[in-house]
Amino acid sequence: MISLFPIILAAGQGTRMRSALPKVLHTIAGKPMLQHVIDAFEPLSVARIAIVYGHGAEQVRQQITGKQLLWALQAEQKGTGHAVQQAIGLAQDNDLVLIAYGDVPLIRSETLTELAQGLGQATLCILTTKVANPKGYGRLLRDTSGKVVAIVEEKDANVEQRLINEINTGFMVARASDWKRWLKQLTPQNAQGEYYLTDCVGLAVAEGWLVNTVLCEDSQEVEGINNRVQLAQLERVAQRRQVEQLMLNGVTVVDPMRLDIRGKVTAQMDTYIDVNVVLQGDVVLGKNVVIEPNCVIKDSTIGDFCHIKANSVIESAIIADDCDIGPFARIRAGTVLEAEAKVGNFVETKKAHIGFGSKVSHLSYIGDATIGANVNVGAGTITCNYDGVNKHQTVIEDGAFIGSCSQLVAPVTVGAGATIGAGSTITKNAPPDKLTLTRAPQKTIDNWKRPVKE
Ligand code: UD1
Ligand code: CA
Repeated sequence: MISLFPIILAAGQGTRMRSALPKVLHTIAGKPMLQHVIDAFEPLSVARIAIVYGHGAEQVRQQITGKQLLWALQAEQKGTGHAVQQAIGLAQDNDLVLIAYGDVPLIRSETLTELAQGLGQATLCILTTKVANPKGYGRLLRDTSGKVVAIVEEKDANVEQRLINEINTGFMVARASDWKRWLKQLTPQNAQGEYYLTDCVGLAVAEGWLVNTVLCEDSQEVEGINNRVQLAQLERVAQRRQVEQLMLNGVTVVDPMRLDIRGKVTAQMDTYIDVNVVLQGDVVLGKNVVIEPNCVIKDSTIGDFCHIKANSVIESAIIADDCDIGPFARIRAGTVLEAEAKVGNFVETKKAHIGFGSKVSHLSYIGDATIGANVNVGAGTITCNYDGVNKHQTVIEDGAFIGSCSQLVAPVTVGAGATIGAGSTITKNAPPDKLTLTRAPQKTIDNWKRPVKE
Protein backbone atom coordinates (compact mmCIF):
# COMPACT_ATOMS: atom_id res chain seq x y z
CA MET A 1 0.00 0.00 0.00
CA ILE A 2 1.23 3.47 -0.91
CA SER A 3 1.04 5.97 1.89
CA LEU A 4 0.79 9.71 1.66
CA PHE A 5 3.56 11.51 3.52
CA PRO A 6 3.15 15.30 3.82
CA ILE A 7 6.14 17.56 4.36
CA ILE A 8 5.10 21.01 5.55
CA LEU A 9 7.64 23.80 5.07
CA ALA A 10 7.61 26.16 8.01
CA ALA A 11 11.19 27.26 8.59
CA GLY A 12 11.05 30.64 6.90
CA GLN A 13 11.62 33.71 8.99
CA GLY A 14 8.60 35.74 7.99
CA THR A 15 10.52 39.01 8.21
CA ARG A 16 7.64 41.00 6.80
CA MET A 17 5.40 40.14 9.74
CA ARG A 18 7.72 42.34 11.85
CA SER A 19 7.08 40.19 14.87
CA ALA A 20 8.89 38.37 17.66
CA LEU A 21 6.43 35.53 17.10
CA PRO A 22 7.39 33.08 14.29
CA LYS A 23 5.15 33.71 11.28
CA VAL A 24 3.53 30.27 11.27
CA LEU A 25 2.31 30.82 14.87
CA HIS A 26 0.28 33.90 14.00
CA THR A 27 -3.35 32.89 14.21
CA ILE A 28 -6.22 32.68 11.78
CA ALA A 29 -9.59 32.11 13.45
CA GLY A 30 -7.82 31.67 16.77
CA LYS A 31 -5.50 28.90 15.57
CA PRO A 32 -1.85 29.12 14.44
CA MET A 33 -1.66 29.07 10.65
CA LEU A 34 0.63 26.04 10.66
CA GLN A 35 -1.92 24.16 12.76
CA HIS A 36 -4.56 24.86 10.09
CA VAL A 37 -2.37 23.18 7.47
CA ILE A 38 -1.72 20.17 9.71
CA ASP A 39 -5.42 19.84 10.51
CA ALA A 40 -6.32 20.00 6.80
CA PHE A 41 -4.58 16.62 6.45
CA GLU A 42 -6.81 15.10 9.15
CA PRO A 43 -9.48 13.62 6.80
CA LEU A 44 -6.73 12.13 4.59
CA SER A 45 -5.73 9.98 7.58
CA VAL A 46 -2.00 10.19 7.03
CA ALA A 47 0.16 8.22 9.43
CA ARG A 48 2.95 10.78 9.70
CA ILE A 49 3.53 14.46 8.85
CA ALA A 50 6.99 16.02 8.68
CA ILE A 51 7.40 19.68 9.62
CA VAL A 52 10.51 21.52 8.44
CA TYR A 53 11.10 24.13 11.10
CA GLY A 54 13.85 26.60 11.89
CA HIS A 55 12.95 30.13 12.78
CA GLY A 56 11.53 30.26 16.34
CA ALA A 57 12.25 26.54 16.66
CA GLU A 58 11.37 26.05 20.33
CA GLN A 59 8.19 28.09 20.26
CA VAL A 60 6.95 26.34 17.14
CA ARG A 61 7.55 22.88 18.58
CA GLN A 62 5.82 23.78 21.83
CA GLN A 63 2.70 25.30 20.34
CA ILE A 64 2.00 22.98 17.44
CA THR A 65 0.35 19.67 18.15
CA GLY A 66 -0.47 16.50 16.28
CA LYS A 67 -0.04 12.89 17.18
CA GLN A 68 1.82 12.02 14.01
CA LEU A 69 4.35 14.88 13.75
CA LEU A 70 8.00 14.41 12.84
CA TRP A 71 10.27 17.43 13.16
CA ALA A 72 13.10 18.23 10.73
CA LEU A 73 15.29 21.16 11.65
CA GLN A 74 16.49 23.48 8.90
CA ALA A 75 18.98 25.57 10.85
CA GLU A 76 19.78 27.90 7.97
CA GLN A 77 17.12 28.74 5.40
CA LYS A 78 18.65 28.21 1.98
CA GLY A 79 15.47 27.82 -0.04
CA THR A 80 12.48 25.54 -0.50
CA GLY A 81 14.56 22.77 -2.10
CA HIS A 82 17.02 22.86 0.79
CA ALA A 83 14.07 22.72 3.21
CA VAL A 84 12.71 19.53 1.63
CA GLN A 85 16.23 18.03 1.65
CA GLN A 86 16.12 18.20 5.48
CA ALA A 87 13.00 16.00 5.69
CA ILE A 88 13.00 13.72 2.67
CA GLY A 89 15.13 11.13 4.51
CA LEU A 90 12.16 10.49 6.82
CA ALA A 91 10.11 9.17 3.89
CA GLN A 92 10.05 5.57 2.60
CA ASP A 93 11.01 5.36 -1.08
CA ASN A 94 7.52 4.54 -2.33
CA ASP A 95 5.71 7.07 -0.11
CA LEU A 96 3.80 9.74 -1.99
CA VAL A 97 5.40 12.88 -0.62
CA LEU A 98 3.12 15.91 -0.68
CA ILE A 99 4.92 19.22 -0.13
CA ALA A 100 2.79 21.86 1.64
CA TYR A 101 3.49 25.31 3.07
CA GLY A 102 2.89 26.24 6.70
CA ASP A 103 1.85 29.80 5.82
CA VAL A 104 -1.13 28.82 3.61
CA PRO A 105 -3.81 28.39 6.28
CA LEU A 106 -6.94 28.20 4.13
CA ILE A 107 -5.95 25.10 2.18
CA ARG A 108 -8.88 22.64 2.21
CA SER A 109 -8.71 18.88 2.72
CA GLU A 110 -10.61 18.36 -0.55
CA THR A 111 -7.90 20.20 -2.48
CA LEU A 112 -5.14 18.15 -0.84
CA THR A 113 -7.00 14.99 -1.85
CA GLU A 114 -7.41 16.24 -5.44
CA LEU A 115 -3.71 17.01 -5.62
CA ALA A 116 -2.72 13.57 -4.32
CA GLN A 117 -5.08 11.91 -6.81
CA GLY A 118 -3.94 14.27 -9.58
CA LEU A 119 -0.62 12.46 -9.81
CA GLY A 120 -2.31 9.62 -11.71
CA GLN A 121 0.14 8.21 -14.26
CA ALA A 122 2.41 11.25 -13.98
CA THR A 123 5.56 11.48 -11.90
CA LEU A 124 5.01 14.92 -10.44
CA CYS A 125 1.81 16.86 -9.84
CA ILE A 126 1.68 20.57 -9.04
CA LEU A 127 -1.18 22.53 -7.51
CA THR A 128 -1.52 25.72 -9.53
CA THR A 129 -3.88 28.66 -9.52
CA LYS A 130 -4.61 31.65 -11.72
CA VAL A 131 -4.27 35.14 -10.35
CA ALA A 132 -4.83 38.62 -11.78
CA ASN A 133 -1.49 39.82 -10.47
CA PRO A 134 1.12 37.04 -10.51
CA LYS A 135 3.91 39.27 -9.16
CA GLY A 136 6.27 37.45 -6.80
CA TYR A 137 5.15 33.94 -7.71
CA GLY A 138 6.76 31.14 -9.69
CA ARG A 139 5.17 30.88 -13.17
CA LEU A 140 4.15 27.65 -14.91
CA LEU A 141 5.93 27.30 -18.24
CA ARG A 142 4.13 25.08 -20.78
CA ASP A 143 5.02 24.05 -24.31
CA THR A 144 2.73 24.68 -27.30
CA SER A 145 0.79 21.48 -26.57
CA GLY A 146 0.17 22.64 -22.99
CA LYS A 147 2.60 20.23 -21.31
CA VAL A 148 4.40 21.60 -18.26
CA VAL A 149 8.10 22.14 -18.94
CA ALA A 150 9.32 24.10 -15.91
CA ILE A 151 8.59 26.66 -13.23
CA VAL A 152 10.43 29.94 -13.39
CA GLU A 153 10.67 32.20 -10.34
CA GLU A 154 9.71 35.87 -10.64
CA LYS A 155 13.29 37.04 -10.18
CA ASP A 156 14.61 34.69 -12.86
CA ALA A 157 11.78 35.26 -15.35
CA ASN A 158 11.98 37.29 -18.53
CA VAL A 159 9.42 39.93 -19.48
CA GLU A 160 7.32 37.50 -21.50
CA GLN A 161 7.30 34.84 -18.75
CA ARG A 162 6.22 37.42 -16.21
CA LEU A 163 2.95 37.84 -18.14
CA ILE A 164 1.94 34.23 -17.36
CA ASN A 165 -0.80 34.23 -14.75
CA GLU A 166 -0.84 30.52 -13.89
CA ILE A 167 1.33 30.29 -10.81
CA ASN A 168 2.87 27.68 -8.56
CA THR A 169 1.10 27.45 -5.20
CA GLY A 170 4.09 25.52 -3.79
CA PHE A 171 1.98 22.41 -3.12
CA MET A 172 3.30 19.42 -5.11
CA VAL A 173 3.31 15.65 -4.92
CA ALA A 174 5.72 12.97 -6.17
CA ARG A 175 7.19 9.67 -5.00
CA ALA A 176 9.91 9.96 -2.35
CA SER A 177 12.42 8.10 -4.53
CA ASP A 178 11.94 10.69 -7.30
CA TRP A 179 12.24 13.64 -4.91
CA LYS A 180 15.45 12.15 -3.51
CA ARG A 181 16.99 11.87 -6.97
CA TRP A 182 15.98 15.40 -8.01
CA LEU A 183 16.92 17.08 -4.73
CA LYS A 184 20.50 15.81 -5.05
CA GLN A 185 20.82 17.66 -8.35
CA LEU A 186 19.68 21.12 -7.16
CA THR A 187 22.16 23.98 -7.31
CA PRO A 188 21.78 27.57 -6.09
CA GLN A 189 22.66 29.01 -9.51
CA ASN A 190 19.78 31.50 -9.71
CA ALA A 191 18.89 35.09 -8.95
CA GLN A 192 18.33 34.42 -5.24
CA GLY A 193 21.25 32.03 -4.66
CA GLU A 194 18.78 29.49 -3.19
CA TYR A 195 18.04 25.81 -3.67
CA TYR A 196 14.69 26.03 -5.47
CA LEU A 197 12.30 23.13 -5.05
CA THR A 198 10.71 24.34 -8.28
CA ASP A 199 13.79 23.27 -10.24
CA CYS A 200 12.64 19.68 -9.68
CA VAL A 201 9.97 20.31 -12.33
CA GLY A 202 12.54 20.99 -15.05
CA LEU A 203 14.56 17.97 -13.87
CA ALA A 204 11.53 15.67 -14.10
CA VAL A 205 10.75 16.91 -17.61
CA ALA A 206 14.41 16.45 -18.67
CA GLU A 207 14.17 12.84 -17.52
CA GLY A 208 11.18 12.45 -19.82
CA TRP A 209 8.45 12.21 -17.20
CA LEU A 210 4.98 13.64 -17.42
CA VAL A 211 4.17 16.50 -15.03
CA ASN A 212 0.50 17.01 -14.15
CA THR A 213 -1.21 20.01 -12.63
CA VAL A 214 -4.34 20.46 -10.56
CA LEU A 215 -5.89 23.91 -10.81
CA CYS A 216 -7.22 25.43 -7.60
CA GLU A 217 -10.21 27.56 -8.67
CA ASP A 218 -10.24 29.74 -5.59
CA SER A 219 -6.88 31.46 -5.41
CA GLN A 220 -7.51 32.75 -1.86
CA GLU A 221 -7.44 29.18 -0.63
CA VAL A 222 -3.79 28.83 -1.61
CA GLU A 223 -2.67 32.33 -0.72
CA GLY A 224 0.37 32.53 1.53
CA ILE A 225 0.64 35.08 4.31
CA ASN A 226 3.66 37.35 4.36
CA ASN A 227 2.49 40.38 6.35
CA ARG A 228 -0.25 41.45 8.74
CA VAL A 229 -2.35 43.00 5.97
CA GLN A 230 -2.65 39.60 4.30
CA LEU A 231 -3.20 38.03 7.72
CA ALA A 232 -6.25 40.25 8.26
CA GLN A 233 -7.56 39.61 4.73
CA LEU A 234 -7.41 35.84 5.12
CA GLU A 235 -8.91 36.13 8.61
CA ARG A 236 -12.02 37.62 6.97
CA VAL A 237 -12.11 34.80 4.42
CA ALA A 238 -11.77 32.20 7.18
CA GLN A 239 -14.50 33.88 9.20
CA ARG A 240 -16.86 34.00 6.23
CA ARG A 241 -16.34 30.27 5.63
CA GLN A 242 -17.14 29.40 9.24
CA VAL A 243 -20.08 31.74 9.64
CA GLU A 244 -21.61 30.53 6.37
CA GLN A 245 -21.36 26.97 7.63
CA LEU A 246 -23.19 27.99 10.79
CA MET A 247 -25.93 29.72 8.79
CA LEU A 248 -26.34 26.70 6.50
CA ASN A 249 -26.80 24.63 9.66
CA GLY A 250 -29.80 26.75 10.63
CA VAL A 251 -28.40 29.59 12.72
CA THR A 252 -29.53 33.16 12.07
CA VAL A 253 -26.53 35.47 12.01
CA VAL A 254 -27.73 39.06 11.85
CA ASP A 255 -24.53 40.31 10.19
CA PRO A 256 -22.03 37.66 9.02
CA MET A 257 -19.30 40.31 9.07
CA ARG A 258 -19.84 40.94 12.75
CA LEU A 259 -19.57 37.47 14.22
CA ASP A 260 -16.10 36.08 14.86
CA ILE A 261 -15.45 32.43 15.54
CA ARG A 262 -12.04 31.70 17.03
CA GLY A 263 -12.31 28.00 17.68
CA LYS A 264 -14.91 25.32 17.10
CA VAL A 265 -18.58 26.15 17.36
CA THR A 266 -21.54 23.85 16.99
CA ALA A 267 -25.08 25.17 17.13
CA GLN A 268 -28.55 23.72 16.74
CA MET A 269 -31.38 25.08 14.61
CA ASP A 270 -32.97 28.49 15.06
CA THR A 271 -30.30 29.89 17.27
CA TYR A 272 -30.01 33.64 16.72
CA ILE A 273 -26.76 35.60 16.97
CA ASP A 274 -26.81 39.38 16.94
CA VAL A 275 -23.91 41.67 15.99
CA ASN A 276 -20.41 41.91 17.51
CA VAL A 277 -20.35 38.50 19.08
CA VAL A 278 -17.07 36.61 19.56
CA LEU A 279 -17.13 32.85 20.11
CA GLN A 280 -13.82 31.37 21.25
CA GLY A 281 -12.46 27.90 21.91
CA ASP A 282 -15.01 25.09 22.05
CA VAL A 283 -18.50 26.50 22.13
CA VAL A 284 -21.66 24.40 21.96
CA LEU A 285 -24.95 26.21 21.43
CA GLY A 286 -28.29 24.48 21.72
CA LYS A 287 -31.40 25.26 19.68
CA ASN A 288 -33.27 28.57 19.83
CA VAL A 289 -30.53 30.26 21.81
CA VAL A 290 -30.61 34.05 21.52
CA ILE A 291 -27.31 35.89 21.83
CA GLU A 292 -27.69 39.65 21.95
CA PRO A 293 -25.03 42.13 20.77
CA ASN A 294 -21.48 42.38 22.17
CA CYS A 295 -21.26 39.03 23.93
CA VAL A 296 -18.06 37.00 24.29
CA ILE A 297 -18.50 33.27 24.88
CA LYS A 298 -15.49 31.03 25.39
CA ASP A 299 -15.23 27.27 25.98
CA SER A 300 -18.82 26.94 27.13
CA THR A 301 -21.98 24.97 26.55
CA ILE A 302 -25.26 26.85 26.28
CA GLY A 303 -28.52 24.90 26.46
CA ASP A 304 -31.69 25.20 24.38
CA PHE A 305 -33.78 28.38 24.60
CA CYS A 306 -31.20 30.28 26.64
CA HIS A 307 -31.22 34.05 26.31
CA ILE A 308 -27.82 35.72 26.60
CA LYS A 309 -28.46 39.43 26.82
CA ALA A 310 -26.20 42.19 25.55
CA ASN A 311 -22.62 42.70 26.76
CA SER A 312 -22.28 39.45 28.66
CA VAL A 313 -19.00 37.54 28.97
CA ILE A 314 -19.12 33.79 29.56
CA GLU A 315 -16.07 31.58 30.02
CA SER A 316 -15.69 27.85 30.79
CA ALA A 317 -19.29 27.51 31.91
CA ILE A 318 -22.06 25.00 31.48
CA ILE A 319 -25.47 26.57 31.06
CA ALA A 320 -28.53 24.31 30.99
CA ASP A 321 -31.74 24.95 29.05
CA ASP A 322 -33.93 28.04 29.43
CA CYS A 323 -31.46 30.15 31.36
CA ASP A 324 -31.46 33.92 31.26
CA ILE A 325 -28.14 35.76 31.45
CA GLY A 326 -27.27 39.47 31.43
CA PRO A 327 -27.24 42.14 30.21
CA PHE A 328 -23.72 42.85 31.48
CA ALA A 329 -23.22 39.54 33.27
CA ARG A 330 -19.80 38.02 33.80
CA ILE A 331 -19.91 34.24 34.05
CA ARG A 332 -16.45 32.98 34.92
CA ALA A 333 -14.78 29.58 34.85
CA GLY A 334 -16.45 26.73 36.66
CA THR A 335 -19.93 28.21 36.67
CA VAL A 336 -22.78 25.76 36.19
CA LEU A 337 -26.33 27.01 35.75
CA GLU A 338 -29.09 24.48 35.99
CA ALA A 339 -32.23 24.88 33.92
CA GLU A 340 -34.26 28.09 34.20
CA ALA A 341 -31.65 29.84 36.31
CA LYS A 342 -31.26 33.59 35.95
CA VAL A 343 -28.12 35.69 36.32
CA GLY A 344 -28.85 39.35 35.77
CA ASN A 345 -27.01 42.58 35.22
CA PHE A 346 -23.68 43.32 36.87
CA VAL A 347 -23.44 39.88 38.42
CA GLU A 348 -20.11 38.02 38.51
CA THR A 349 -20.04 34.28 39.12
CA LYS A 350 -17.03 31.97 39.51
CA LYS A 351 -17.00 28.26 40.45
CA ALA A 352 -20.66 28.67 41.25
CA HIS A 353 -23.28 25.97 40.88
CA ILE A 354 -26.66 27.62 40.64
CA GLY A 355 -29.66 25.32 40.89
CA PHE A 356 -32.90 24.98 38.96
CA GLY A 357 -34.91 28.18 38.73
CA SER A 358 -32.66 30.16 41.07
CA LYS A 359 -32.16 33.86 40.48
CA VAL A 360 -29.23 36.18 41.06
CA SER A 361 -30.70 39.19 39.36
CA HIS A 362 -28.61 42.24 40.18
CA LEU A 363 -25.17 43.46 41.27
CA SER A 364 -23.78 40.38 43.00
CA TYR A 365 -20.58 38.38 43.35
CA ILE A 366 -21.14 34.64 43.69
CA GLY A 367 -17.87 32.71 43.93
CA ASP A 368 -17.04 29.23 45.27
CA ALA A 369 -20.70 28.69 45.96
CA THR A 370 -23.33 26.00 45.65
CA ILE A 371 -26.84 27.30 45.37
CA GLY A 372 -29.81 24.94 45.41
CA ALA A 373 -33.09 25.16 43.49
CA ASN A 374 -35.50 28.09 43.59
CA VAL A 375 -33.22 30.33 45.61
CA ASN A 376 -33.57 34.09 45.35
CA VAL A 377 -30.36 36.03 45.87
CA GLY A 378 -31.16 39.68 46.47
CA ALA A 379 -29.43 42.60 44.78
CA GLY A 380 -25.92 43.36 45.92
CA THR A 381 -25.30 40.06 47.70
CA ILE A 382 -21.64 39.08 48.03
CA THR A 383 -20.16 35.69 48.87
CA CYS A 384 -17.02 36.62 50.83
CA ASN A 385 -15.02 33.62 49.62
CA TYR A 386 -11.50 34.87 50.24
CA ASP A 387 -9.87 35.48 53.63
CA GLY A 388 -6.77 36.92 52.03
CA VAL A 389 -5.07 33.53 51.87
CA ASN A 390 -7.59 30.77 51.21
CA LYS A 391 -10.85 30.40 49.32
CA HIS A 392 -13.92 29.04 51.16
CA GLN A 393 -17.30 27.64 50.14
CA THR A 394 -20.74 29.12 50.53
CA VAL A 395 -23.72 26.78 50.43
CA ILE A 396 -27.26 28.07 49.97
CA GLU A 397 -29.87 25.35 50.14
CA ASP A 398 -33.15 25.01 48.20
CA GLY A 399 -35.74 27.71 48.52
CA ALA A 400 -33.62 30.11 50.59
CA PHE A 401 -34.13 33.87 50.24
CA ILE A 402 -31.10 36.12 50.66
CA GLY A 403 -32.07 39.73 51.43
CA SER A 404 -30.42 42.45 49.40
CA CYS A 405 -26.93 43.64 50.18
CA SER A 406 -26.03 40.72 52.40
CA GLN A 407 -22.52 39.38 52.82
CA LEU A 408 -22.13 35.64 53.27
CA VAL A 409 -18.74 35.12 54.90
CA ALA A 410 -17.53 31.68 53.83
CA PRO A 411 -17.34 28.96 54.92
CA VAL A 412 -21.01 29.25 55.67
CA THR A 413 -24.29 27.47 54.94
CA VAL A 414 -27.73 28.96 54.61
CA GLY A 415 -30.29 26.22 55.25
CA ALA A 416 -33.22 25.27 53.03
CA GLY A 417 -36.08 27.73 53.13
CA ALA A 418 -34.11 30.16 55.32
CA THR A 419 -34.54 33.90 54.94
CA ILE A 420 -31.64 36.29 55.45
CA GLY A 421 -32.65 39.84 56.34
CA ALA A 422 -31.39 42.52 53.99
CA GLY A 423 -28.03 44.05 54.82
CA SER A 424 -26.85 41.18 57.01
CA THR A 425 -23.27 39.98 57.43
CA ILE A 426 -23.65 36.22 57.91
CA THR A 427 -20.64 34.59 59.54
CA LYS A 428 -22.33 31.53 61.07
CA ASN A 429 -24.61 28.94 59.50
CA ALA A 430 -28.21 30.10 59.15
CA PRO A 431 -30.75 27.39 60.10
CA PRO A 432 -33.44 26.24 57.66
CA ASP A 433 -36.85 27.88 57.46
CA LYS A 434 -36.01 30.70 59.88
CA LEU A 435 -35.29 34.41 59.51
CA THR A 436 -31.68 35.22 60.32
CA LEU A 437 -30.38 38.76 60.28
CA THR A 438 -27.53 40.75 61.75
CA ARG A 439 -28.90 44.17 61.13
CA ALA A 440 -28.86 46.65 64.03
CA PRO A 441 -32.40 47.64 65.04
CA GLN A 442 -33.59 50.85 63.41
CA LYS A 443 -33.90 53.89 65.61
CA THR A 444 -34.88 57.53 65.17
CA ILE A 445 -33.06 60.36 66.99
CA ASP A 446 -35.59 63.00 67.89
CA ASN A 447 -33.61 66.16 68.57
CA TRP A 448 -30.90 65.70 65.98
CA LYS A 449 -30.15 68.63 63.68
CA ARG A 450 -28.18 68.79 60.46
CA PRO A 451 -24.86 70.60 60.86
CA VAL A 452 -24.83 74.10 59.41
CA LYS A 453 -21.97 75.82 57.62
CA GLU A 454 -19.80 77.99 59.93
C1 UD1 B 1 7.70 29.86 -3.39
C2 UD1 B 1 7.95 29.16 -4.72
C3 UD1 B 1 7.13 29.86 -5.81
C4 UD1 B 1 5.67 29.88 -5.44
C5 UD1 B 1 5.48 30.52 -4.06
C6 UD1 B 1 4.06 30.39 -3.64
C7 UD1 B 1 10.19 28.23 -4.74
C8 UD1 B 1 11.59 28.43 -5.17
N1 UD1 B 1 9.34 29.20 -5.03
O1 UD1 B 1 8.27 31.16 -3.49
O2 UD1 B 1 7.28 29.18 -7.04
O3 UD1 B 1 4.93 30.61 -6.41
O4 UD1 B 1 6.32 29.88 -3.11
O5 UD1 B 1 3.86 31.08 -2.45
O6 UD1 B 1 9.86 27.21 -4.19
N2 UD1 B 1 10.72 27.84 3.53
C9 UD1 B 1 11.49 27.06 4.36
N3 UD1 B 1 12.83 27.10 4.25
C10 UD1 B 1 13.47 27.87 3.35
C11 UD1 B 1 12.68 28.66 2.50
C12 UD1 B 1 11.31 28.62 2.60
O7 UD1 B 1 10.96 26.34 5.20
O8 UD1 B 1 14.71 27.83 3.31
C13 UD1 B 1 9.26 27.78 3.65
C14 UD1 B 1 8.64 29.08 4.13
O9 UD1 B 1 8.52 29.09 5.53
C15 UD1 B 1 7.29 29.08 3.44
C16 UD1 B 1 7.54 28.30 2.15
O10 UD1 B 1 8.71 27.55 2.37
O11 UD1 B 1 6.33 28.38 4.19
C17 UD1 B 1 7.69 29.20 0.95
O12 UD1 B 1 8.80 30.04 1.12
P1 UD1 B 1 8.85 31.49 0.51
O13 UD1 B 1 10.15 32.10 0.83
O14 UD1 B 1 7.64 32.24 0.88
O15 UD1 B 1 8.83 31.14 -1.06
P2 UD1 B 1 8.57 32.14 -2.22
O16 UD1 B 1 9.81 32.85 -2.55
O17 UD1 B 1 7.36 32.94 -1.96
CA1 CA C 1 5.84 33.29 0.01
